Amino acid sequence: MSNESLANLLREERRFAPPAGLAASANVSGAAYAAASGDRLAFWAEQARRLSWAVEPTETLDWSRAPFARWFADGTLNVAYNCVDRHVEAGHGERVAIHFEGEPGDGRSITYAELKDEVSRAANALLALGVGKGDRVAVYLPMIPEAVVAMLACARIGATHSVVFGGFSADAVASRIQDADAKLVITADGGWRRGKPSALKPAIDEALERCPGVERVLVVRRTGQDVAFTEGRDVWWHELVEQQSAEHAPVAHEAEHPLFILYTSGTTGKPKGILHTSGGYLTQAAYTHHAVFDLKPETDVYWCTADIGWVTGHSYIVYGPLANGATQVIYEGTPDTPHQGRFWEIVQKYGVSILYTAPTAIRTFMKWGDDIPAKFDLSSLRVLGSVGEPINPEAWVWYREHIGGSRCPIVDTWWQTETGAIMISPLPGVTETKPGSAQRPLPGIAATVVDDEAREVPNGAGGYLVLTEPWPSMLRTVWGDDQRYLDTYWSRFEGRYFAGDGAKKDEDGDIWLLGRVDDVMLVSGHNISTTEVESALVGHPAVAEAAVVGAADATTGQAIVAFVILRGTATDRGEALVEDLRAHVGRTLGPIAKPKRVLVVNELPKTRSGKIMRRLLRDVAENREIGDVTTLADSSVMNLIQAQLPSAS
Ligand code: WT7
Repeated sequence: MSNESLANLLREERRFAPPAGLAASANVSGAAYAAASGDRLAFWAEQARRLSWAVEPTETLDWSRAPFARWFADGTLNVAYNCVDRHVEAGHGERVAIHFEGEPGDGRSITYAELKDEVSRAANALLALGVGKGDRVAVYLPMIPEAVVAMLACARIGATHSVVFGGFSADAVASRIQDADAKLVITADGGWRRGKPSALKPAIDEALERCPGVERVLVVRRTGQDVAFTEGRDVWWHELVEQQSAEHAPVAHEAEHPLFILYTSGTTGKPKGILHTSGGYLTQAAYTHHAVFDLKPETDVYWCTADIGWVTGHSYIVYGPLANGATQVIYEGTPDTPHQGRFWEIVQKYGVSILYTAPTAIRTFMKWGDDIPAKFDLSSLRVLGSVGEPINPEAWVWYREHIGGSRCPIVDTWWQTETGAIMISPLPGVTETKPGSAQRPLPGIAATVVDDEAREVPNGAGGYLVLTEPWPSMLRTVWGDDQRYLDTYWSRFEGRYFAGDGAKKDEDGDIWLLGRVDDVMLVSGHNISTTEVESALVGHPAVAEAAVVGAADATTGQAIVAFVILRGTATDRGEALVEDLRAHVGRTLGPIAKPKRVLVVNELPKTRSGKIMRRLLRDVAENREIGDVTTLADSSVMNLIQAQLPSAS
């Protein structure tokens, strides 16, 4: 983020006190901060007691092989039992777990008792397919209840799931399946997207040509579209799962048993498989969901609009809310189908009281107009959440006024795939909020901002966000690559976790997040690496070289801008080629990675060691004066590039 917008952030002086009623009955009070900082490990040991353990842990943290952590390591539990069965046993079997709203308007409500039967049947089906404890299962599904059931069925039998976002292409799916060495894939014929069925199965069929380790494919019928079926490999969910017994006794697994792998972009092309385990992960997912959203399971209706393919869906659709016995909405489709008021219609229909969404969505709603939410009854809302990227104060204030009726606290939650759960956020009954700031580490979490020399910066200064103490839901490693775990997160600052985000402390010591410091772009809250897009571009026969940057974008946070040098053999160099390149990236990596702009140039700015200076390209893409060019091998390159471009806007 430029210094100019940083200054704007810090001039933000609006303050909003927590509503008195909410503060008086909040799940967590301000006393939690002091209690947790007094004895952090005792605090987390106490939070672990929210869960039902088969064997209660006596050990909280083993940090003897730091930074490889073990939390609650001598305890055992079943994660699915915690998310489902125990609520039924406690007499809440008739409570709705999931109100499913399909995009075409179909839907069903699933109680905890029904969810228990469905997860048990699916667990039995996985066993029947030869999947057992420790095996990896890839999940490639639309936003339908079977996605939740599939994840919980894996957890129940101790299989490790690897959910791949349904928007990813066959290539991206194949590389993730190979890296995790999955033996089963759970997918669907397709899902509903913008009023049309959008196929998923063909991407799996294509990916599996390169994944010999996959033995079986379990296919949910959602859209009813035609699918190719490979005899002996593919099996319908409705045929196999429905015929299983609804009885399945959950067995306890070790607290450190791998629960899931989730891939996130790295600065080198290869995505990182972030590994999360069971007891510590579920403890922090459950605690943060309870504390940050103030969930009252008997009365609240909670809705997180994320996709299950991202960590937000894992922690705040599946594990946190279900561990807490929440009633939640799951919506399959896009916010503008069949009309731009769809989200608000859903809030009204189900009486949603807690809404968790992303700044990119909020900015889109702002663009669509205030009159759209105004047509719906949003009076059920009482807490609003934001996640995925820094939220600009304008969007924050719009969210508060036009969605929250100026009465709901906003929790701006900072965390990452790697942190597993929320780390920095206001507490809705405690914090006086500031538009645009995530403010303060949660009770039990230690974070600060340091300069290049690892010195903690004073209030009013900026630097890098670091986490200074281990936390229960921290990633345990990069799947199959301990060295990459050490190099990426623990080598920049001795003994501290490097988050890769720039941050600033204000005069009160509150934290303002400023975006990624490395070359990972954040587009609509999705993490996409410049290198992956560049690799895709040079995979096109017309492209010789490519450099990709994220440029500030009012709607998506960052937009992908690509600079390409064409091969001499490329005959077409105009608009048609640019369109073709964008489509090519979409096919290779998925539609979210499609560059917004592709600029054809003759040169790229490089250092003498051959490293592309993206900083300078970002200046061009954001129409700024070009910064320091002294480290360029050829300092005239930037003049050349600028002269070639259509007026950059
Ligand atoms: C990156 C992590 C956390 C789930 C979704 C993204 C950015 C996330 C915030 C926030 C400012 C945020 C950071 C972070 N980010 N939430 N509230 N304020 N920035 O997970 O794909 O692992 O991306 O998202 O840059 O490092 P992810």
